[in-house]
Amino acid sequence: GIELGKLLGKTGLVTLDPGFVNTAACSSQITYIDGDAGILRYRGYPIEQLAEQSNFIEVSYLLIYGELPTRTQLDDFAQKISRHTLLHEDLKRFFDGFPRDAHPMPVLSSAVSALSTFYQDSLTPFDDSQVDLSTIRLLAKLPTIAAYAYKKSVGQPFLYPDNSLGLVENFLRMTFGFPAEPYHVDPVMAKALDQLFILHADHEQNCSTSTVRLVGSSQANLFASISAGINALFGPLHGGANQAVLEMLEGIERDGGDVDTFVRKVKNREAGVKLMGFGHRVYKNYDPRAAIIKKTADEVLGKLGDDQLLEIAKRLEERALGDDYFIERKLYPNVDFYTGLIYRAMGFPTRMFTVLFAIGRLPGWIAHWREMMKDPATKIGRPRQVYVGPGERTYVPVTER
Ligand code: ACO
Repeated sequence: GIELGKLLGKTGLVTLDPGFVNTAACSSQITYIDGDAGILRYRGYPIEQLAEQSNFIEVSYLLIYGELPTRTQLDDFAQKISRHTLLHEDLKRFFDGFPRDAHPMPVLSSAVSALSTFYQDSLTPFDDSQVDLSTIRLLAKLPTIAAYAYKKSVGQPFLYPDNSLGLVENFLRMTFGFPAEPYHVDPVMAKALDQLFILHADHEQNCSTSTVRLVGSSQANLFASISAGINALFGPLHGGANQAVLEMLEGIERDGGDVDTFVRKVKNREAGVKLMGFGHRVYKNYDPRAAIIKKTADEVLGKLGDDQLLEIAKRLEERALGDDYFIERKLYPNVDFYTGLIYRAMGFPTRMFTVLFAIGRLPGWIAHWREMMKDPATKIGRPRQVYVGPGERTYVPVTER
């Protein structure tokens, strides 16, 4: 109380807004969200149209450069990305240093951080052509790094990228293929994964994107800022939720599939149990991405195998949406409620789910870093605090304590 009074007296008004619930840290032209109406648009284009008609490379271009590319721009962009998919042979050796059972998310962030050491031209000062090159390097190399993190975890040999394939097909081949064996990319799987990447590609000032901007505001380069964003995404309240949802559904299945008992536990807050994949800081309505993903889950799981967990998820959703606890708090399924089921049907282990989110979110992070660097209003991010610790005290030597 006293210290707070002093702070206000000395420096003028300081707003205290834990979690930045009502505080905008920047203005942005990239993504529009209306959380009450359940609307999401990238650069003005509704997410439903992009998910249905576009592809991940084109959406990446749109987010980063602000406009849909012409055919020539798109071909050029895609070709540059496929030319940079290889990892430096020395970077490949980094993977040997991690324990075999390492979670792939910290492996991913470490490898991205290490890109600064291989591409020292990425350090300040930033000029446009260099930033374009770092952008291409990241978009091209993250799927390779992600596939190697997976191969390392299962003890299988790495595959070099095959640049006759598109980004998603290449990633699937490097993940599930074997050297010297032909790998047939399942078109249903490739299309569904491409669409999931589109749906994850940006979501304005979420925790990881704000992290990228905050780190970048100190003029840290693109690789360092994105590596920090990957670490922010790792948390179970953010990107880690897709893994947590699947573990929750498996737990319910193990307990006999009784969703009523689980919902009761959530409402009674037993041992801090939450309905993972539900609720969102901004959406107080059905997350538009979840609506698209639910449809994809039906299609993909129909083709790639029937799923007991999908049935539990649907019952759980129906049960929650009809319950006063969730209605009063405006808790609806978010993007992660159904994604894990699709990833699992594709053959990804649970620990890779958040890695897939990171590949999808990458163009959004890059777009925000670039927008911030160009914005003359940008200042180094430096939030204030309200000090509530002790007042002045006199030091007591250790012998007298
Ligand atoms: N299950 C049960 N109760 C919930 C849930 C949930 N999933 N989410 C929110 N609530 C309750 C809170 O306990 C709180 O109740 P109270 O007011 O009675 O205390 C109320 O709803 C408001 O929730 P807050 O935690 O204040 O909302 P906040 O905006 O801070 O949190 C968050 C949003 C973190 C997403 C939260 O809803 C959550 O933890 N959900 C589960 C994790 C998850 O799915 N995360 C993924 C988010 S999307 C993404 O990052 C891609």
